[in-house]
Amino acid sequence: MCGIVGYVGVKNASKVLIEGLKRLEYRGYDSAGISVLLNGHLAISKTPGKVSRLEKMLPDAGSSVIGIGHTRWATHGEPNTVNAHPHTDCSGRIAIIHNGIIENYSALRTKLASMGHAFKSQTDTEVLAHLIEEFNKRFMNLEIAVRLALKEVDGTFGIVVMSESEPDVLVAARRGSPLVIGLGDSENLIASDASALIKHTREVIYLHDNEIAVITKEKVQLKNLEDEAVERETEHLTFDLEQIEKGGYAHFMLKEIHEQPDTVLNSMRGRLIDADGISMMGGLREVEEKIAKARRFVILACGTSWHAALVGKYIIEQYAKIPVEVDYASEFRYRNPVLLDGDIVWAISQSGETLDTLAALREAKKKGADAYGIVNVVGSTIARESDAGVYIHAGPEIGVASTKAFTSQLVVLNLINLYLARKRKSITLEQGKEIVEEMHRIPDKIRKIVENAGQVESIAEEFKESRNFLYLGRGVNFPVALEGALKLKEISYIHAEGYPAAEMKHGPIALIDENMPAVFIALRDSTYDKILSNIQEVRARKGNVIVIANEADDRLKELADHIIEVPTTLEALSPILSVIPLQLLSYYIAVKRGCNVDQPRNLAKSVTVE
Ligand code: F6R
Repeated sequence: MCGIVGYVGVKNASKVLIEGLKRLEYRGYDSAGISVLLNGHLAISKTPGKVSRLEKMLPDAGSSVIGIGHTRWATHGEPNTVNAHPHTDCSGRIAIIHNGIIENYSALRTKLASMGHAFKSQTDTEVLAHLIEEFNKRFMNLEIAVRLALKEVDGTFGIVVMSESEPDVLVAARRGSPLVIGLGDSENLIASDASALIKHTREVIYLHDNEIAVITKEKVQLKNLEDEAVERETEHLTFDLEQIEKGGYAHFMLKEIHEQPDTVLNSMRGRLIDADGISMMGGLREVEEKIAKARRFVILACGTSWHAALVGKYIIEQYAKIPVEVDYASEFRYRNPVLLDGDIVWAISQSGETLDTLAALREAKKKGADAYGIVNVVGSTIARESDAGVYIHAGPEIGVASTKAFTSQLVVLNLINLYLARKRKSITLEQGKEIVEEMHRIPDKIRKIVENAGQVESIAEEFKESRNFLYLGRGVNFPVALEGALKLKEISYIHAEGYPAAEMKHGPIALIDENMPAVFIALRDSTYDKILSNIQEVRARKGNVIVIANEADDRLKELADHIIEVPTTLEALSPILSVIPLQLLSYYIAVKRGCNVDQPRNLAKSVTVE
């Protein structure tokens, strides 16, 4: 999704902005631009494509000490130079960068055009530049102009504005799109993501919704949109830049796949009580009783997080015996869902900023439900707006395709399941202890799987030209099949479908011929015998069969063209293992097809639009 960086201080602003934008590249974008103040005038450079291209076309701006930069992911208007940010007013003296969507932009544009404003781009953002111009003409003060302009706006925004008439000030505001301010020595920065600031400072302030910040090199003043001063504690960032760099791997995605023994361990660290065969999560302490007494869970999420939710449904219903409904956040928010007394809503999100999930969470709260979060990014909007929650502690995930966040989400869902199953006495102390012991073994089992990446790479070589894939699983393996298919399609652009294996005979079986690889997740679990028949159905139609299987499975050896082995574990934990070869398979196929795995086309890391 779009990225924002702003700088005011003593250094070469262009350089700081370009560096910051490079740090934000992982968010996904299709054009980039910066504006700096040069000899009293705004110097604006914009281009479709990458930040490196923008860097090459910058004027010599050594004397500039203030500026704003942006990477845009197109929503209104195609990704070209004119539509790239920053956008300016009629005079070209005010520049703005914006993340989010102005929903009433069309009406505002018509009104402003009738007042004589000339528009250059097709974007929703440009109306804000002209609105601010209008108010700035009247009040001759950028902060007031921004505040009044935002009062006319419906939708979401994270904005930073600069003006020739106030050459040492940046004005920023947020509603729905994250912004974090970095506090330096004779310099201050602002960005949509702390990774763009960390080279300069670790002291930060998070801007909240409906707040405005006036930033100079000496100070930062916060107010709400009602013009009342706001006090906010400074926070100290603890993560390292190295953590968000590639660490020797060819791509972030590969690095993140290999990190999983550690990230999964981080997700359970300090949360397992071995002697009592139960888990404990600080973020849920206050609501433990409520959760244990819940009559139903409704889990809301999008994409990969939705697949994690579906795994959660299988395991929580099986062990804790609580009915679980899993809903796409985007569907939940618009279908007037029925929530009952005793329902608890969970929102799962890696980024904590996915707009559909956030809106669904708000909708659930509006309907009076208790709503809890399962989130990776600390301090993100969903984390803040949840009544309680659990961080998954997977660390920054930079590859657009979610990998380590998924397995950490599964760990947390297992922790929640364990807690509930023990509290509700649907499993015994001994069973609880067995789960705890097995959870401790999971990191080593993952290590074994990633050590086998070479085998997966050779299978990828064989299938890299395939045009379609089917992923099939039953029970808890069905969401894993969905996730495998999503991983493949999003980074390799090969069409892939995930299906419950038994559903195959109701339609998809018609697709099977010698050109169709079918990936089965066929572990020795409660669905094992059934899925063997499904594999035979594919074999009989000459399909290529790749199976994710448990070690030493002789029956499968006769049926499969390729077997990728994963260690045995408890059924509830098995998706944490079985998904990893699927992540590797999609990674290697995409690399062999020459695709940009970390920033696949049309996708964004954090989807803050509807
Ligand atoms: C797929 C992927 C997306 C996200 C989805 C939700 O690899 O990354 O499908 O899972 O956009 O994002 P979060 O979890 O940040 O809410």
